Amino acid sequence: MTNHKTRIAVFCSGTGSNFEAIFNHIKNKRLNAEIALCLSNRAQCGAMEFAKHNGISTVQISEKQFESFDDFAFAMIKCLKDQNIDNVLLAGYMRKVPEAVVTAFPDKILNIHPALLPKFGGEGMYGIHVHSAVISAGETESGATVHFVNEEYDKGRILLQRKVPVLADDTPETLAARVLECEHRLYPEAVEKMLSEQQS
Ligand code: GAR
Repeated sequence: MTNHKTRIAVFCSGTGSNFEAIFNHIKNKRLNAEIALCLSNRAQCGAMEFAKHNGISTVQISEKQFESFDDFAFAMIKCLKDQNIDNVLLAGYMRKVPEAVVTAFPDKILNIHPALLPKFGGEGMYGIHVHSAVISAGETESGATVHFVNEEYDKGRILLQRKVPVLADDTPETLAARVLECEHRLYPEAVEKMLSEQQS
């Protein structure tokens, strides 16, 4: 067991309800970790507001601020290294993480996806699009998956997965709400699992 407190950066683009669930879990269970940074492509969103209210450093960084994608990736890595970040959690981050960042943090980045990967993953499969596709395909179950991030969209090693039913009268919105509730329990558990594997 090491005494080092794991420093986590959470990447978000929207509401940040998963971020909030993870933050509360770490605080309530007194895990040997802290959320040190909230990084977003958007200057204003629920996640950034939550971070500011809870004294967590925030940074807005987006490709648009840079001349090239490589410059963007370099700035992202510098920001993470400057803050001594150990792990990154993607929580509703609607951008692809540059490959150079994945290479700089091998097996250190987790993502939550609102479906049962490997089904309904890949480019264009995010947010409500995922739930629409699940319903259109006539699936009777969906769920959430927490996986390590590699250079391919939604293809990294699965850490935890949990199912929820798809009901006959579900709309993408009602299914999204059921999956999100599941995510709020699953992601904190997955973070705890990752930390215990890393810290033992
Ligand atoms: C969550 O359902 C998450 O799984 C999904 O966006 C939502 C973010 O909600 N992520 C993706 O679709 C990424 N492919 P939140 O901002 O309230 O945590």
